[in-house]
Amino acid sequence: MFISFEGLDGSGKTTQVQRLAVWLRTHGWDVLTLREPGGTRLGDAIRAILHDQTYAEMDVWAELMLYCASRAQLVAEQVRPHLQNGSVILSDRFADSTLAYQGYGRGLDLGFLRTLLHAITHGLQPDLTLYLDIDPERALARRRSSGEEVNRMDAESIEFHRRVRAGYHQLIAEQPDRWVVIDASASPDQVAAHIQAVVKARLNLSG
Ligand code: TMP
Repeated sequence: MFISFEGLDGSGKTTQVQRLAVWLRTHGWDVLTLREPGGTRLGDAIRAILHDQTYAEMDVWAELMLYCASRAQLVAEQVRPHLQNGSVILSDRFADSTLAYQGYGRGLDLGFLRTLLHAITHGLQPDLTLYLDIDPERALARRRSSGEEVNRMDAESIEFHRRVRAGYHQLIAEQPDRWVVIDASASPDQVAAHIQAVVKARLNLSG
């Protein structure tokens, strides 16, 4: 089972990925957690470039290709082999982030992006995508107070983050069976409980 987490920065994805991993392991599952960009040696090197705020000049196509290079390596090196071994994979972001940020946020052609993503993922899609929904203002306030890692997207306007969020909602409307929307403005415990209930149903877990 391949589960991805999506949402704006500050939606609490990273915390919830870790909490779900712990919970699944207590149920005896073999769990691999990944994050994008990164998750491989090459991907982590690309992540450092992508998050470096001194690269303010980065062209949108260069940015796209770096995210995609990181993902291609992640799919080849981690996702496919572990899925074959029967592990549960939890990924902090996956291809939907590219559609949301580079497509809806930056305005790159969605049809082209879908073709590119299909090639680099070998058509692989998550079985379940948990969307941690939060409004951009609240997400920003959380990031400022949490001392989370800062990245280049933090320099973008609130309008940009609104477009990204609207993009996510569009993606959810297109594939409602794959996505579950989680209210990320609730407390971390409430969010974790909601996620566990969803995953429990999908994995047919009891107890
Ligand atoms: P994060 O690791 O803190 O989630 O930060 C990753 C940032 O990169 C976040 O602002 C979203 C952005 N991003 C894209 O723009 N496109 C992508 O394909 C991915 C994976 C992330």
